[in-house]
Amino acid sequence: MSEPSEHPIFARVYDSLIAGSEKAGLAEMRRSLLAGARGKTLELGAGTGHNLPHYTDAVTELVLAEPDPHMAARLRERLTAEHPAAASAEVISAPAEDLPFDDGSFDTVVSTLVFCTVSDPERAIVEARRVLVEGGRLLFLEHVRADSPRLAWWQDRLERPWGWFAGACHPNRPTDQTLADAGMWIEQLDRELFPKAPRIVRPMIKGVAVRPGGRR
Ligand SMILES: C[S@@+](CC[C@H](N)C(=O)[O-])C[C@H]1O[C@@H](n2cnc3c(N)ncnc32)[C@H](O)[C@@H]1O
Repeated sequence: MSEPSEHPIFARVYDSLIAGSEKAGLAEMRRSLLAGARGKTLELGAGTGHNLPHYTDAVTELVLAEPDPHMAARLRERLTAEHPAAASAEVISAPAEDLPFDDGSFDTVVSTLVFCTVSDPERAIVEARRVLVEGGRLLFLEHVRADSPRLAWWQDRLERPWGWFAGACHPNRPTDQTLADAGMWIEQLDRELFPKAPRIVRPMIKGVAVRPGGRR
């Protein structure tokens, strides 16, 4: 597996790039998704910490995994400035494909705008499943490959230049299919549109995937 690369410029401009989308509805999508986070919670690729204000006190312990040191520095600053409602929170450096936790360590795993960027989405989802307890939930908000063949064609054509601009993001990944292929049970899946975003990243999915083996 290749190491996640560093994107210092993307980390510096990320908050400004996404500010319009946050105001136009992305922050509200985060809030409604994260209302479902509870217990020991792991966030993958936490970036600069846009999800922090949305965790409730149902989260007993929050682990924020972020492999890019430039993103992680901003995340730590935000964590110091804003105290999330979770009882405890820490930042660790770890890629989603190789999580330093035992099987069944978490009640909730969170991924927002991450499976588009990881080097190996299949492996990242299998890792998320592994670290969840049976019946544990993966909360996801991701932009995905379009259902429309025409838009999917553009997503394929523009994949490389978009990746240079957007911190190695791939606009054309069928993350909903990858979740199902990894043996996650899709409990809820809503089709959304990324507010105020370029067309090639507008199709989004938001929902809950459960590690099979028990319901809680
Ligand atoms: C578009 S940003 C999203 C940040 C944040 N999750 C959010 O919702 O605003 C993508 C994030 O994925 C992180 N990332 C890149 N490769 C990764 C990997 N292999 N494992 C986990 N996170 C990764 C990046 O460093 C970056 O913080």
